[in-house]
Amino acid sequence: MNQPEWPCLVWGTVKLGRDTQLKTPAHTLPSDAEAETLIRQMTELGIRAFDTAPAYGSSEIRLGAAPNHSINISTKVGEIHQHGQSHFDFSAEAVTQSLKRSQQRLKREHLDLVYLHAPNNDLDILKHTEAWTTLLDAQHAGIIKQVGLSGKSTAAAKWAFDHHADALMVPWNRQDQSHAEILDEAAARSIKIFVKKGLNSGQLPAAASLQWMLEDPRIHAVVVGSLNPEHMHQNLNVAKSTRPNQC
Ligand SMILES: NC(=O)c1ccc[n+]([C@@H]2O[C@H](COP(=O)([O-])OP(=O)(O)OC[C@H]3O[C@@H](n4cnc5c(N)ncnc54)[C@H](OP(=O)(O)O)[C@@H]3O)[C@@H](O)[C@H]2O)c1
Repeated sequence: MNQPEWPCLVWGTVKLGRDTQLKTPAHTLPSDAEAETLIRQMTELGIRAFDTAPAYGSSEIRLGAAPNHSINISTKVGEIHQHGQSHFDFSAEAVTQSLKRSQQRLKREHLDLVYLHAPNNDLDILKHTEAWTTLLDAQHAGIIKQVGLSGKSTAAAKWAFDHHADALMVPWNRQDQSHAEILDEAAARSIKIFVKKGLNSGQLPAAASLQWMLEDPRIHAVVVGSLNPEHMHQNLNVAKSTRPNQC
């Protein structure tokens, strides 16, 4: 199956659709009109990849309402967030339903990349629920192009290595290098690493952090959350100057 080309900077859209139970500083949820403007601005800047999830409240619906044909979009399964609360369901039925809902919301026949969105007991979920095999089945059926894990532990990442993962989303920044051996192993296996929390949820200097991450060839892309187009413009400039051929 053709692998979509992922640029090195991905716009993380949790704050676009959710404003509760987050580690980033408190923010006001954009209105529908503000969200539409933001998505247009990010697209016009040249951001070519978005990360979303059913756990990000209205993010998927908002991204799907905008023209997004030339954008790579990753989404997730396992957690949904409604009325300020998260709910988890890793059954085959829930995963299948979640994929259908994401296709409808994003207005896409095929989903570019879908992560299993796992909480702290990630390895148990991988080993003892049907979620992972349901994702692989959906990939074989052509619904999903690439399957990934966005988990917590290095043990879960290692399990995913041996079970056909195409991509991993892992925390990585100057203050958290707990996944160092995972980055090495992923590079050896040509599995794509997408970094989350690269700015430690806004606590680290953006330009220096981004440059440091993108100088590391083990990292395929960095997912940066923002509601500020000027910030994403600065981030894109750093990305392009660090990796001119992939950003
Ligand atoms: N379990 C999971 O799957 C999981 C968990 C966490 C995150 N993620 C993904 O990763 C994305 C990023 O995570 P995150 O939002 O927690 O952390 P992050 O990317 O480390 O930090 C985001 C924060 O940095 C600020 N920021 C971005 N660019 C900046 C710049 N140039 N100058 C100053 N501040 C800047 C943003 O504020 P402004 O809005 O002011 O720019 C935002 O509050 C999420 O949106 C989501 O897509 C996934």
